[in-house]
Amino acid sequence: MSRLLVRDLAQLVTFPGTAAPLRGKALGAVEVVEDAFLLCDGERIEAVGRMRDLPELVGDVEEVDGRGFSAAPGLVDCHTHACFAGDRVEEFSLRAAGAGYEELHAAGGGILSTVRATREAGEDGLRAAVRRHLAWMRRAGTTTAEAKSGYGLDRGTELASLRAIRDEGAVPTWLGAHALPPEHPDADEYLDFALTEVLPEAAHLAEAADVFLERGAFDVAQARRYLEACRDAGLVLRLHGDQFTESGAIPLAVELEARSVDHLEATGEEGVHALARSDVAGVLLPASALFLGRPMPPGRALVDAGAVVALATDFNPGSSFCESLPLVCSLACTQLGMAPAEALGACTVNAAHVLGRADRIGRLAPGYRADVLLIAASDWRYVAYHLGGQVVAGTIVGGHRD
Ligand code: NIG
Ligand code: FE
Repeated sequence: MSRLLVRDLAQLVTFPGTAAPLRGKALGAVEVVEDAFLLCDGERIEAVGRMRDLPELVGDVEEVDGRGFSAAPGLVDCHTHACFAGDRVEEFSLRAAGAGYEELHAAGGGILSTVRATREAGEDGLRAAVRRHLAWMRRAGTTTAEAKSGYGLDRGTELASLRAIRDEGAVPTWLGAHALPPEHPDADEYLDFALTEVLPEAAHLAEAADVFLERGAFDVAQARRYLEACRDAGLVLRLHGDQFTESGAIPLAVELEARSVDHLEATGEEGVHALARSDVAGVLLPASALFLGRPMPPGRALVDAGAVVALATDFNPGSSFCESLPLVCSLACTQLGMAPAEALGACTVNAAHVLGRADRIGRLAPGYRADVLLIAASDWRYVAYHLGGQVVAGTIVGGHRD
């Protein structure tokens, strides 16, 4: 087993304890070690601490000079749509000239234009696309990413998407209820198809199921039917909810004990408190709100009310062509009223919780996977402060310098 020592770090930041998720004040209770080291043994962290407490190391140890850098847990992106082909740059230009996102979708563009391109890509093409997108994320400091299917919406392409996501090392979510494909214009009839023809195999490939509960997509009754069938097949439940309208996603998520409800740009006070009383995480996607020119989700209110808050990119070609969690942290601080420490906790410990991995990733502590973000600054808060800047000096993934 090879050992790797990162020495003379200006700062190392992590969150104390092993409890997850972090709520309320605990979300911002970051622990900062000045003049620090981090020692990895194989793919796990062996020790972290102050340089003056570094024990003498015998045997082969690869060293990384951390002078001028800070270390944080590798970032965890718990909501992405990384499996797609083609792009939506034409739609982006139309929107810049005033066209509406929902109008474009209703006219057969939007998500459905990506469905057409994704169906044509073939499994090898999808694998290459996922690999390329994950490499972009890695350069932005992400060491674990979730990725959803949902641009196939037929049996072959949905299953190929989930295999591509799994084989390229991301955490697969079956977004079988993303939109209605042209061959199934009726939502109930589409769900008959998806639940009988796709779910049995999707349940073996994916860890979670997701649904887009929104006007023009799936309503509460349809989302309930889809999610109950997915839960019975052993999948963790997640929802896209309150993106444009409050359409009952939070009450349904609470009733079904979903792991998360994501977006929440349209969530009001009642929704904030309902979420805070529950164990359902609210995954906030401020890059998506920015990209679509929509109101920001109520981040400050959710943290203050004690809800479990995570942050993610929502990386996709239509509503958030952004793979950068550091940029999302900047938006959390400038637009959602969150502190840098809260933003970091939301895309490390709490994002790991959303993916069911908080016992393994999201912290820099002995026994955790050696997934590390090296920040190109001696104050770790530059990760949020340097808006759109080159804040990532590198990553360590499973004990290997990337
Ligand atoms: O999370 N809202 C639904 N799905 C994606 C967008 C998908 C797309 O526009 O291609 C989202 O924003
Ligand atoms: Fe999404």
